[in-house]
Amino acid sequence: MTRKVTKAVFPVAGLGTRFLPATKSVPKEIMTLVDRPLIQYAIDEARAAGITEFIFVTSRGKGALEDYFDSAPELENALRTKGKTQLLETLEDTNMDSGAIAYIRQHKPMGLGHAVWCARRMIGNEPFAVMLPDDVIAADKPCLAQMIEAHQEIGGSMVAAMRVPEEKTSSYGILDIENETVGGLAKVRGMVEKPSVGNAPSNLAVIGRYILTPDVLNNLHEAKEGAGGEIQLTDAIAREIDEGRPVHGFQFEGQRFDCGSKAGFLQATVSFALARPDLQEEFYDYLNDIVPLAQAAE
Ligand code: UTP
Repeated sequence: MTRKVTKAVFPVAGLGTRFLPATKSVPKEIMTLVDRPLIQYAIDEARAAGITEFIFVTSRGKGALEDYFDSAPELENALRTKGKTQLLETLEDTNMDSGAIAYIRQHKPMGLGHAVWCARRMIGNEPFAVMLPDDVIAADKPCLAQMIEAHQEIGGSMVAAMRVPEEKTSSYGILDIENETVGGLAKVRGMVEKPSVGNAPSNLAVIGRYILTPDVLNNLHEAKEGAGGEIQLTDAIAREIDEGRPVHGFQFEGQRFDCGSKAGFLQATVSFALARPDLQEEFYDYLNDIVPLAQAAE
């Protein structure tokens, strides 16, 4: 039986340039969908999948992220004194157990692959998850839990995949698959990073959830020594395939929002607000009012 995945790496050392000027001082992962930071959605998903060790790869200027996971005694006391128990619970849900969370620095933004490699000593010799908090996934069963369940059966490395329209394939890493199997699993025989239009081997795109074997860290180590510039995680996973180790694409059930882009972030904001019982009605009425006006103005 495959070893259970209990560690997750959160690479959050990127510059977040698409959200400048906000990201000049606010880490992208602290930006909120309604009232919860992106990172909270990722942590909740990881916890629901049985992750107990959370490894953050951070960089300069990400102090707010570390503070976010600390307890806030003054705030908690103030809420307790005022009898605001519900808010207190909301706050307490964000606290992490002592020692469950670790931070490691990526000194230069040398790419996602390099960020994961920076966490190698904390990962050790066991399979681990990688979660990009930019990708927020709304699902009945959290995406990583779906993946870990499938991984228990099949082992190896696994990437989350979703179908994208033909014309969007050039924005993603695209999977070349052998055949599709039951339960959304497909054996991967190759991966192409951002193929030019018309050259994609499929329309199955890789998104920000991975379960990787420690072998991938060795591949990243060699990439680190060999190449300058950005070090891609997909290259290290593709090398697994070349060396004959199994890599699967897993088509999860759920809706993914690309919160690393402005359009995706806004779509997620609207969807999550509409799903909130306390906001639903008022927000829906507002949208109903403004959409016809916006259409008329076109
Ligand atoms: P992105 O490609 O979205 O880059 O990284 P970015 O810097 O976050 O944002 P833009 O494109 O400048 O707006 C995908 C994920 O990989 C992490 C990012 O923090 C994000 O979670 N990453 C990227 C690193 O941790 N280190 C890197 O060197 C690059």
